[in-house]
Amino acid sequence: MNTKGFIFDLDGVIVDTAKYHFLAWQKLAKSIGVDFTETQNEQLKGVSRVKSLEKILNWGQKTISKDEFESLMVSKNDDYLGHINDMDATEILPDVPKILNYLIENKQGVALGSASKNAGPILEKVNLLSKFDVIVDGNSVTKGKPDPEVFLTGAKLLKIEAKNCIVFEDAVAGVKAANAANMISIGIGDKETLHEADYVFSDFTEISIEFIQELINR
Ligand code: BG6
Ligand code: MG
Repeated sequence: MNTKGFIFDLDGVIVDTAKYHFLAWQKLAKSIGVDFTETQNEQLKGVSRVKSLEKILNWGQKTISKDEFESLMVSKNDDYLGHINDMDATEILPDVPKILNYLIENKQGVALGSASKNAGPILEKVNLLSKFDVIVDGNSVTKGKPDPEVFLTGAKLLKIEAKNCIVFEDAVAGVKAANAANMISIGIGDKETLHEADYVFSDFTEISIEFIQELINR
């Protein structure tokens, strides 16, 4: 039997938390007099908390002290935690459990590859933690997406070669990271935004079991 490694991003792929990151960053940016658009927000997706704040400050041409930077990072996360506090399994995106269960039944490697330091608690809240053989998150990597480290670490822990791994991503930075890792990249979201991915689907309801089986057989 073939064993492939399937690596899932979290925010915007498994759960709809990308919207909460956006709301929290937007509120924080407003508080320091910076405005950014939803198009600019695409550049924040998949990107670490530190790098996201650096980008926002750069857009607003703001320079702040190290202490202010730290306190803004704390504010953003506190606000974000407020949004995810009451999350439960109803926030899992459609057909994600179906695909996860199929992969598990068919003995494929299943990993999480997320930039978020909140990934573990979120997976617990939505009751999906036990589905993953391996968790790689923002606490376990030094270089964020678009660097391939998060996915290469996932492949290593799964003990599956990078070329036999498939990544699901909603972020441009994440698709770049998967491509740099020499993995098959599957974009979840807008075709134009994610044009660098090998395949793009609007969401998991568009991904058939036949397609997953074809990826396994390759
Ligand atoms: C990524 C999100 O998954 O995690 C980004 O797409 C976020 O928007 C990043 O900034 C870091 O998340 P956290 O939870 O550690 O602030
Ligand atoms: Mg994401």
